[in-house]
Amino acid sequence: MTLSIATPRVFAPLLKPSRYKGVWGGRGSGKSHFFAEAVVEKCLMQPGTRVVCVREVQKSLKDSVKRLIEDKIEALGVGDRFNVKSAEIGTPGGGVIVFQGLQDHTAESVKSLEGFNVAWAEEAQSLSARSLELLRPTIRAPGSEIWASWNPRNAADPIDQLLRGITPPSDAIVVRANYSDNPFFPPELEAEREFDQRTKPDRYGHIWLGDYEPVAIGAIWDRLVLHRNRRAEVPPMARILVAVDPAVSSERGSDEHGIVVVGIGQDGRGYLLADYTLRGTPLQWAGRAVAALDEFGADAIVIERNQGGDMCAQTLRTIRPHLRIIEVVATRGKHVRAEPIAALYSLDRISHVGTFQRLEDQMCQMTAGGYEGEGSPDRVDALVWGFTELFPTINRGAAKPPPRVERVGGAGSWMG
Ligand SMILES: Nc1ncnc2c1ncn2[C@@H]1O[C@H](COP(=O)(O)OP(=O)(O)OP(=O)(O)O)[C@@H](O)[C@H]1O
Ligand SMILES: [Mg+2]
Repeated sequence: MTLSIATPRVFAPLLKPSRYKGVWGGRGSGKSHFFAEAVVEKCLMQPGTRVVCVREVQKSLKDSVKRLIEDKIEALGVGDRFNVKSAEIGTPGGGVIVFQGLQDHTAESVKSLEGFNVAWAEEAQSLSARSLELLRPTIRAPGSEIWASWNPRNAADPIDQLLRGITPPSDAIVVRANYSDNPFFPPELEAEREFDQRTKPDRYGHIWLGDYEPVAIGAIWDRLVLHRNRRAEVPPMARILVAVDPAVSSERGSDEHGIVVVGIGQDGRGYLLADYTLRGTPLQWAGRAVAALDEFGADAIVIERNQGGDMCAQTLRTIRPHLRIIEVVATRGKHVRAEPIAALYSLDRISHVGTFQRLEDQMCQMTAGGYEGEGSPDRVDALVWGFTELFPTINRGAAKPPPRVERVGGAGSWMG
């Protein structure tokens, strides 16, 4: 049979055999489509081919490239040669395509992949060092290949170190692809791209051109540490707080009200669980904070009382009269307060459950000299208040008055 696949020029170097093949770049460059077609092509040309499509975390097959590969099988008109099942795809000559999360594997279980001919890691920027170490020696069939596609985050991420570092493997072919290299770039994505170019100039290079994420020089938080400790699931928790840094005024264009949910796990580590920051009236932020308290079964709301005096606590009590509120007072600059918390992150004692793009951008623009981002780092402020309350000993010896704790009991209150 003759298969005709129109391949964008940028991917041409990848059409010959090589142990490692990598494509990195911004959104919409055609990376996923290229590798999906390459999977189908390889299965057709080499009967019996076994392919594993991996990600760091795969909660369900919906997270995988299964659907994309099925679409390619259809589009290339070769549906009669494949056997699409619920969890895998049978390929010509008794081969198979499977879809797995590397985080679910152990050194033992990963051995089940030893006979595979191709491993394609999609969203490879998320691969942990452990996962790459598991995968590389596992894919060992004669002529087997490891493919990776990714949108780079940080030069120190394991996939960047492997394929874009100072000493990449000698048999690696790695290309950069961007939307401008994609002849199929659809108008819907072009509209998104133009919107981001206008509204997010600081993130544009990362999202659309494949640049690393923006980081301020001298930042006290390190993106790598955030990524390294990231978790997909909330662990069993010991204590949860909602922390709020209310903005002074609620006029349009003014700062956001930072609202985050933080906690300590039964393992003694800190976890960031949610970021509900918003712009709005006092009743809106108070309502959001109380809803977050209920959603997570939090103990209390931590709130900065500096600017609003008693107003903030009063606003919260308008929403819910009996509420445990912990008021804290800022006596030191933002970045000075933030440093002990950043230190806990560096010690791998705090994890984010999920990704918090805007908060993490703010964190990585806090420097020892102050905040270098635009506006005010309200999300970080709220986070710092929350973790300072959860890890009180880190501030021991600092010239900081103890927080004023108000407990309001009575029927129907939190005390029951
Ligand atoms: N070979 C192709 N055939 C048809 N359409 C394509 C092809 N390659 C890319 N496209 C179009 O371009 C879009 C972007 O391609 P793709 O999703 O592969 O990019 P990507 O680099 O993986 O982007 P992201 O980083 O957003 O995942 C697709 O949604 C599709 O519309
Ligand atoms: Mg993609």
